[in-house]
Amino acid sequence: MPLDSQTTTLWIQPTGGPLGADVHGVDLAREIAPSTFATLAEAWAQHLVLRFSGQRLDDEALMRFSRLWGELDRVPIGTGVEKANGVAANAVEWVTVISNVKVGGKPIGGLGSYESIWHTDMSYNPLPPRASLLYAIECPPAGGDTGFANMELAYDTLPADLKQSAEGRSCTHDSSRNSAGEYRRGFKAVSGPRETPGAVHPLVRRDPVTGSKSLFLGRRAGAYVRGLSVDDSEALLNGLWAHASQPKFAWYQRWRIGDLVMWDNRCTMHRRDAFDETARRVMHRTQIVGESVVAG
Ligand code: OGA
Ligand code: MN
Repeated sequence: MPLDSQTTTLWIQPTGGPLGADVHGVDLAREIAPSTFATLAEAWAQHLVLRFSGQRLDDEALMRFSRLWGELDRVPIGTGVEKANGVAANAVEWVTVISNVKVGGKPIGGLGSYESIWHTDMSYNPLPPRASLLYAIECPPAGGDTGFANMELAYDTLPADLKQSAEGRSCTHDSSRNSAGEYRRGFKAVSGPRETPGAVHPLVRRDPVTGSKSLFLGRRAGAYVRGLSVDDSEALLNGLWAHASQPKFAWYQRWRIGDLVMWDNRCTMHRRDAFDETARRVMHRTQIVGESVVAG
């Protein structure tokens, strides 16, 4: 019987951590058979973060694979980077460059070389992306690892008092600052968390398909729990964040050139370690349009 090389070698290897799995035996630059996609979708639903190593993707191929998961989302607001950033002309609306590299003194991408703190991508939008896909083109020899944290697990293990306080509450997701704390173009500081611009989402999210619940915190800076005094809001958020950012919920990706990592942006958070600013790191990212966040 002839062997189909793609289906016979496709292999999902869990990281052994609280989330994440490696996918072996698939070349993402080639057409993905429906049966292969079904296996990937099942693995993604189960592990929330998938890593595909040893890929060779141009923007076209990155967008083609990304579109299998839904409609592409536009690049984030106010990134304010140079146009000559290495993205193909037909991809500039859809592919975000994450890089510390500068050309003519101007950064070609976002996030520089510094730490990026725990966050969900673009949750300041009314419809936060369902997924983000990040592809490594150049990597520093050390540093710049990306941590992913499982917010279903964080919800399930939440102490009863915090669970009760979060139930039925919503918070603001700051649109004015990026995950490195920098103000986006066109935004400036406001007088307090009640004035923070950005979408409001439930703190506890329920997956409309599986029904599983997760914490949906977005980003700490500028967050405000609606209907509470600022002090009570701060206390609740501090409690939720202290719980959610424990290392036991996280797994870290050490990047190699050719890694594509895709994460469920609804029930995970991520952060990035700083790295040596003189080293080069170049990543291209796509996002998949999501749905409105359903309260848990
Ligand atoms: C992102 C992000 C982390 C990284 O692209 O959304 O947070 O490792 N990147 O660069
Ligand atoms: Mn991010």
